[in-house]
Amino acid sequence: MKAFKAMIAAATVLATGSAYATDLEVTHWWTSGGEAAAVAEFAKAFDATGNKWVDGAIAGSGGTARPIMISRITGGDPMGATQFNHGRQAEELVQAGLMRDLTDLATKEGWKDIIKPSSLLDSCTLDGKIYCVPVNIHSQQWLWLSNAAFEKAGVAVPKNWDEYVATAPALEKAGIIPLAIGQQPWQTTLAFQVILVALAGPDAYKTVFGDHDATFAAGPEMTKVFDAADKARAMSAKSNAQEWNQATGMVISGQAAGQIMGDWAQGEFQVAGQVAGKDYTCLPGLGVNEVIQTGGDAFYFPLLKDAEKSKAQEALASAMISKETQVAFNLKKGSLPVRGDVDLNAANDCMKKGLDILAKGAIIQAPDQLMSADSLNQVNDLFVEFFKNPALTPADAQKRFVDLVAAAD
Ligand code: GAL
Repeated sequence: MKAFKAMIAAATVLATGSAYATDLEVTHWWTSGGEAAAVAEFAKAFDATGNKWVDGAIAGSGGTARPIMISRITGGDPMGATQFNHGRQAEELVQAGLMRDLTDLATKEGWKDIIKPSSLLDSCTLDGKIYCVPVNIHSQQWLWLSNAAFEKAGVAVPKNWDEYVATAPALEKAGIIPLAIGQQPWQTTLAFQVILVALAGPDAYKTVFGDHDATFAAGPEMTKVFDAADKARAMSAKSNAQEWNQATGMVISGQAAGQIMGDWAQGEFQVAGQVAGKDYTCLPGLGVNEVIQTGGDAFYFPLLKDAEKSKAQEALASAMISKETQVAFNLKKGSLPVRGDVDLNAANDCMKKGLDILAKGAIIQAPDQLMSADSLNQVNDLFVEFFKNPALTPADAQKRFVDLVAAAD
């Protein structure tokens, strides 16, 4: 037994260049069934480097977790690594010099050649330095439909948004909630901007969320979008879910017919043993404008004084972007890999649809990549009110939205 232990210790030294496994606390907000299954792949890959993943899951949504992560870093109690979305969420932490520069590692490992689309690495880059490792591409541009719900209502599974809206009366008659939406603030904005892209088109979305063009936001194109959002509001009036995965659970059980949600919902269908195409149908871009939003997740590393932990941070970043971990993690997460050189032959029908759209280059950036966190939070609050309060007319909501777009940065 002693010889075996000596061999393990030697292997650990070889693997990590140090005699002891270094603990690294990693914070994230992945607590649903599918998310937990996926993040376990990261933990496994990191532990295989001879270090130790200390899980710092924070329950609730990103909107709950991020203020906790930020206050720990600014308050002098940093974790070893933390999740943020692609985009500008960690911008102020980086500007304050609190985050680790990964440029040397990125250069050594050729991330600029590996990561596709390169805009993902651009979202990690500030003043020419790289501060995060992108780990997936999550598109919000999906509608998930329960095949069983439409069968029970005696109607065909819709192929696009208009057909879906037209099934609402039959669904309600069968006691099925047409559209499930959770009440966390980011979920109603997600539904709105997915409808925007589908009905007004990707260019209209970029003009509003990217260029912050208030004149366009006030125009007739956007009035049509607010009218469609009003229909979505009526279809989801009986949806009492709070967390996004509770709403997904309603579609999995057939209690609700559909959910507009990012493709992380796939992790929940997988954990429930449901098969894409057989048990559920996915419509990218609501079956109208098939685009993939290059949102998703990246990991950032607070600047630490501890040399061993700093070395372990590099081992973690390297493990996260490695080919085998990219496949293992993304298949469980329902997201697409950030590398163009991995073979996802195990991908299901919906992931394959996403990969095809990505390969065509039909991509748009996520709101997190286009608006500051503060501006987006204000937009989120408006749509929480809009979906909760039928007295707020589409016209009045559009007027308030125009003011937020005009003031957005
Ligand atoms: C997003 C994140 C996804 C997913 C989702 C729901 O911000 O990019 O990975 O987990 O939150 O928690």
